[in-house]
Amino acid sequence: MAMDASLIKTINKLQDAFSTVGVHNPVDLPQIVVIGSQSSGKSSVLENIVGRDFLPRGSGIVTRRPLTFLSVSMSVLCLLYAKKEPNGEKKEPEEWGEFLHQPGVKYTDFNQIREEIVRDTELKTGKNAGISPLPINLRVYSPNVLTLTLVDLPGLTKLPVGDQPKDIERQIKDMIVKYITKPNAIILAVTAANTDLANSDGLKLAREVDPEGARTIGVLTKIDLMDAGTDVVDILAGRIIPLRLGYVPVVNRGQRDIDTKKSITRSLEGERSFFENHSAYKSKAQYCGTPYLSRKLNMILMHHIRNTLPEIKAKIQAALVKYQVELAGLGDMLGEGSAGQASIVLNIITEFCNEFRTIIDGNSTDLTS
Ligand code: GDP
Ligand code: NA
Ligand code: MG
Repeated sequence: MAMDASLIKTINKLQDAFSTVGVHNPVDLPQIVVIGSQSSGKSSVLENIVGRDFLPRGSGIVTRRPLTFLSVSMSVLCLLYAKKEPNGEKKEPEEWGEFLHQPGVKYTDFNQIREEIVRDTELKTGKNAGISPLPINLRVYSPNVLTLTLVDLPGLTKLPVGDQPKDIERQIKDMIVKYITKPNAIILAVTAANTDLANSDGLKLAREVDPEGARTIGVLTKIDLMDAGTDVVDILAGRIIPLRLGYVPVVNRGQRDIDTKKSITRSLEGERSFFENHSAYKSKAQYCGTPYLSRKLNMILMHHIRNTLPEIKAKIQAALVKYQVELAGLGDMLGEGSAGQASIVLNIITEFCNEFRTIIDGNSTDLTS
């Protein structure tokens, strides 16, 4: 996801420092979960945030099992994975995906990732619109990303089709509620702008688990498909159904764009020019589109981290105490080197706290705009 590069570097450095003292994931980052009616554009929104084409999308029920997408920062793992070339030099690891159900199989072609998602979905649920709460777990190893989880989910529907059970509505709802109840979940409640906001299944469900709206962002898709002369300006201004964290209007690829394999880059360009040239949005284009949604998510992540700083510090203290006790216990066996290592870790962590404050102070102004 398009994130503040200095934030990513700083957090990754912290993760690295911690893993040298045996603490994994010191910063428990939120999970980003998309919910909403079937075909409202959830998978499309998620793909645009990630900036990668890898999810099955389309009209009808396409997403039939939860998909958890974990981006794994390569900085932690590059030393483990970097392949030694015959000449002894380490090769730069490329970006790749791996499914939990296929350990060791590396996908470098994201089209093949999509094919595997479809194949494994059909394997577990059949071809006839069946659904299953059994998640597909995908990890993508990449440089310059945060270790972060995003979740794609089947859409809310009312009536069963194909092999779906009679109580499909309840089953899908239960599946979604499981993911969004976690206080750690950031909910992207997706509603197509050419439908009535008051009927939004996503917003309704989000409100059940997050009545204060502390972790729900409204995403309005299909702005390009609205009737001429209508717009979402009143919704954005909070005059229809106010939402604490606000709404972001987006334009994803339409079905024809999917069929003609329009790239994400071109899609984002199209989205930008749509908002910049539309009479209703051009004065507020900076608050529209996928880049603004990413910025909003960035802000939420930073605030989350800032709120967990005391907890992080406590973990640092505990880890250092444990490390020092272990060092003392081992005595001379380890020699000078380990004491040196401990102070390096301490330095990195101190540096982190300073850098982090700088980043937060420079960025924390536009969260609720
Ligand atoms: P999901 O079922 O909620 O995951 O929705 P998908 O992402 O699979 O999209 C469903 C259909 O809506 C696809 O045909 C998409 O091309 C189309 N779609 C999604 N978002 C937009 C949008 O912003 N504009 C247009 N024109 N079509 C969209
Ligand atoms: Na769909
Ligand atoms: Mg979908």
